[in-house]
Formats: sequence, C-alpha cells, structure tokens
Amino acid sequence: MSQSIAENANTAMAAVRQLLGELPHRAYIATFGCQQNEADSEKLRGMAYEMGYEDAASPQDADLVLINTCAIREHAEQKVLSYLGTLKALKAEKPGLVIGVCGCMTAQEHRVNTLRERYPYVSFTLDPASLAAFPAALLDALEGGKRKFLQSGETPPVTEGLPTRRVERHRAWISIMYGCNNFCSYCIVPYVRGRERSRLSADIIREAEEVIAAGCREITLLGQNVNSYHGDCDFATLLDRIAALPGDFSVRFMTSHPKDVPDSLIAVMAKHRDKIAPHFHLPLQSGSDAILARMNRRYTRASYLETVRKLRESIPGIALSTDIIIGFPGETDEDFAATMEVLRTVRFDMIYSFLYSPRKGTPAANMEGQISPAVRSARMAELLDAQNEIALSLALPYVGKTLRVLADGKGKMPGTVTGRTPENRLVSFEAPESVIGEFVRVKIERAEPFVLRGVLAD
Ligand code: SAH
Ligand code: SF4
Ligand code: F3S
Repeated sequence: MSQSIAENANTAMAAVRQLLGELPHRAYIATFGCQQNEADSEKLRGMAYEMGYEDAASPQDADLVLINTCAIREHAEQKVLSYLGTLKALKAEKPGLVIGVCGCMTAQEHRVNTLRERYPYVSFTLDPASLAAFPAALLDALEGGKRKFLQSGETPPVTEGLPTRRVERHRAWISIMYGCNNFCSYCIVPYVRGRERSRLSADIIREAEEVIAAGCREITLLGQNVNSYHGDCDFATLLDRIAALPGDFSVRFMTSHPKDVPDSLIAVMAKHRDKIAPHFHLPLQSGSDAILARMNRRYTRASYLETVRKLRESIPGIALSTDIIIGFPGETDEDFAATMEVLRTVRFDMIYSFLYSPRKGTPAANMEGQISPAVRSARMAELLDAQNEIALSLALPYVGKTLRVLADGKGKMPGTVTGRTPENRLVSFEAPESVIGEFVRVKIERAEPFVLRGVLAD
C-alpha cells in the first residue's frame, strides 16, 4: 500500500519535472508549528527538489510557496492567516506563482472553507497525512486544473520512500510514528493528525544509519507520544537499537506522555548514557488532579512525581523540561497553586508555558468556567517569575565547568556560536563558524536563566 503511494508520488514528480523543463524554478517553504512539521517540511522540500525546484530565499524570489501550518492555538492559526494575507499582492504581481497550504490547519473543515472562500489565490491544500499527494496537486495546479482540498481521513497508511531534503547536516528529525490517540480534552492534534500509526523499526533504523553516515551528530526521534510507539517492537527496544548503532552521535526523543513512562525506557536511557541525551521532556500541563482529570490526561500529580523520582534516581543529572497550560476552564486559585507547587518541587530546567486556547471541536472548548484574560495573564506572570528564579539557580553551578556542546548555529553577537549541552541547555560561546556541526568543549564563564556563556576550551 505505502509502496504504491510513493510510486504515485514518483510518477507525478516525473511529470512535473518534464513540464518545468530546464528553466530554473524556486520553492519557498514556510513552516509553522512543532518539530513534526519541520520534519514534514523536509519531505516537501525533498519532493520539490526532485521536481527541479531549488530553494528560494524568500516568497518574492519563488515560483512555488508552500505554507506548512499549525493549529495548536488560536494564535498559531492567526499567524498563518496573516502570513497568507501578505502573499495576496505577490500573487497579483506574479500570476504564475503557485501557493499551496498544508499541515494541521488544513485538516479542519472550517479552516478549509475559509481558505476556499477568502483566499482564492491558494491553489491546493493538503492535510498532514496527504503529503505524498503534493506532487500530483502541484502538477494539477501547473496545468491549470481545479483547486484541490485534500483530506486523508483518520487512519491513512504510513508512507515510506518519499525523498527528504534536510535543512541541517548535523541534526536530523526522524518521525517514528504519526497521529495521536490520547484526546486530551483541550487538544486539536488527534483531530488533525488522525490515529496513531507507527513506522517499522527497520525503516527507522535504516534512516538513522543513513543520516549518521552523512555526518549527523544528533538524531531526534519524533512522535506525539513516543511511548506508544508500536511498530514491530516497543519504544524502549527501538531506542536501545538506535543507541547501539556505531558512530559519534547522540539521540533525543520527544514527546513522552507522563501516563506511560515504562521502567524499561528508563533502563535503556541509563544503559546508554553515552549516546542517549540525559534529558526528558515530560509535559505536566497542570499540577492539580482535578484539572488533570478534566484534561483527560490519565495521570495524577503523585504518579507524575513518582516518574520524576525514578528518572532522577536512574539517570543522575538528567534534565527535565515540561509544558504547562495556564487558564484551563475551571482552573481555580487552588488549582493554579498546585501547579506552582509541582513547579517548585520538581525544579524543571526548562518550561514551555501556554495560555489555554479553546479549539473548535474539542471537549474543553465547551466546558464551563473559561478564565478571564486578566486572571490568566496574572497567573502566567507568576509562573514565569518563579521559573526564572529556578532556571538561574540551576544554571549557576555550571560556571567554571567545561561542557561538551554540539555547536549548531551562529550566535546573535558576531564571533559567537550557539549550541546545546547533552542536557539540552543553550550555550553561546566565542568560536569560529567552522565548529558548527561538531561536538566541542566549552568553558562556561557566565550563567543566565536560559543561556550559558563561555569560550572554546581547546
Ligand atoms: N504531544 C505532545 C504535545 C503536543 S502540543 C504532548 O502530549 O505533550 C504541545 C503543547 O501545546 C502541549 O503539551 C500543551 O501544553 C500545549 N497545548 C496543546 N493544546 C493547547 C491549547 N488548546 N491551548 C493551550 N496550549 C495547548
Ligand atoms: Fe495533544 Fe494530548 Fe495527544 Fe499530546 S498527547 S498531542 S497533548 S492529545
Ligand atoms: Fe501544531 Fe500540528 Fe504540531 S497543530 S504543534 S503542527 S502537530
């Protein structure tokens, strides 16, 4: 099944290549949202490249613009729509420009209707599981066919064999599964990405071997809940096999749902301390059991804290990060105080906090007790204040230490480079650009809550 999908994509790619001929063509892909979308965009880029498109530096410079969208919060969707608005004049100037919209936003009927009615210059939409239909949709648009709005349904098959063109050589996203079955009551993802589907371990391992051979230093395994990976083995076994591959690389993964972090996974992390980054992203969302129950998270504050205890016991020095939602419907002062208490108990290295945003079609959007913007902002400010203090006190002990860092990009200040420690801590240091993409040793001289600053040690 998946073979024929890739074959159909290949046929359409060949037809586009022929249609475009030798003339230069450029594609610009704008990516919104999470790493899953970054990974999908690398597939779109791979297919575009196969069809003869080079990268464009900006939409103005492009013959094809693809917008890979996110729907996780209202703000994410508004950003996409206003970006799309800016392309209207460009399309008027350049009628041959093809504009396609893909990603999570386009899996929702009401958003597709908006695009259909209010954005006539969008030639096609593709939901996240319809990526392989991109070449056919593009071919149609180039041939002047009708606009297409593609939806894949809830359980599309996993497609192997599509080309990928990665943005970086030294870091690679590898999706191990797609979709989500958890239906947290606030979340749109299960509706826009469909049911869980896992890739076979052999396909994942082959991809990992390929990127390692090409010089990749850090692999991040992706899934909405990697713990429910169920290809031909479980996640702990898959991780064990990837960590056992030869080469100078490290492996990360995200995200793990706190309701199911098995001891076997913790044991694999402890066994491969050299290869598996000592970092765990464990989204808390709320520290209140009453709110967790209404979020349909299926763990409690106590079971969450027990998982944290086990992780720290088996992997000393492990860094923990989390996601927190502020202002879930019905969140009382006591509920919020419970979140603050867990924050102070765990002392996370990093938090990502979000104001609750009602999503059409999710149960929480219809719940009583939506929280006023003033209360939500006051709680957010309190949370961030406390976290700044915690983050700084966790960062200070690094001053004077020499750390292994994967240099991954240019810093803001000239002559500086940024990178990440195995714990995923951001480091900015003075170094030549030539170190980007390699592991280096950095002597830390100063600590701020979210960044360590230093110099190359050797
Ligand atoms: N699958 C991952 C994360 C998906 S979305 C997981 O389970 O953790 C990333 C984060 O966005 C979530 O962890 C949550 O904190 C936040 N989020 C999701 N839906 C939201 C909403 N409706 N409003 C505000 N934040 C939301
Ligand atoms: Fe959304 Fe919950 Fe699935 Fe994460 S686990 S993607 S928060 S439904
Ligand atoms: Fe956004 Fe879709 Fe990711 S909604 S957060 S791009 S799974």
